[in-house]
Amino acid sequence: MSSAIVSTPIKKVTTFSFAQMKQNGEKISMLTSYDYSLARIVDEAGIDAILVGDSASNVMAGWETTLPITLDQMIYHGASVARAVKRALIVVDLPFGTYQGNSKQALSSAIRIMKETGADAIKIEGGEEILESVQRILSAGIPIMGHLGLTPQSIHKFGTYTVRAREEAEANKLVRDAHLLEEAGCFSVVLEKIPASLAERVAKELTIPVIGIGAGSGVDGQVLVLHDMLGITNGFSPRFLRRYMHLYEDISAAVSSYVADVKSSDFPNDKEQY
Ligand code: KIV
Repeated sequence: MSSAIVSTPIKKVTTFSFAQMKQNGEKISMLTSYDYSLARIVDEAGIDAILVGDSASNVMAGWETTLPITLDQMIYHGASVARAVKRALIVVDLPFGTYQGNSKQALSSAIRIMKETGADAIKIEGGEEILESVQRILSAGIPIMGHLGLTPQSIHKFGTYTVRAREEAEANKLVRDAHLLEEAGCFSVVLEKIPASLAERVAKELTIPVIGIGAGSGVDGQVLVLHDMLGITNGFSPRFLRRYMHLYEDISAAVSSYVADVKSSDFPNDKEQY
């Protein structure tokens, strides 16, 4: 009898699996990650998709907005995550200034992400105004996740992070943009911070999966910023955020204990040295 260990191969989530999940009515789970260590935990815990979001600009680098993060920095985060992930679909954000208004630049930014990170897809913000960039990137065979509603790269245009598309004109444009992205060939769309009824309507009208953040329960999946749901970030409590842990307090208590142990010569003890 052979003693070979047979391990079940991990089935990678693909853009095709995304489409199947929508068809089967299976909700899609997505979280952000920006580094190897946390991405590995998130992947092994069974998440469907990991977004290497440009929220790294806020969460990892401490900037007020997502605008300062560069393409090189997104590639650094994307490659770190890709080295950890075996199963989840990896989507990397194209950062501000690398695709708007110039579709050739958009394509070369997307190609750098795909070549230098090992990601499966890219995400970009906007609808009609970036359609040429969307089409050019898709023509190179690079899958795109769209992003409509509150698009943080346009924060200086909006002036506020409040709920978008409450007014009829903005809601109608969002629905039109969602259809344009689907018709262009995007495999999925994120809707951020819009009324739940509008998000549900878009999810019903589109055949591609709609992933929500602050967009209610009537969509095909949910995404949250990992550091928010783990409670590492604090002083930020939007209604849509469910905190599954309170790590800010836990880490702070652990660090205080370590400081006290070092000061009192309690650490290291006899068993913790050679
Ligand atoms: O960058 C990000 O984390 C995002 C999510 C908020 C969707 O775009």
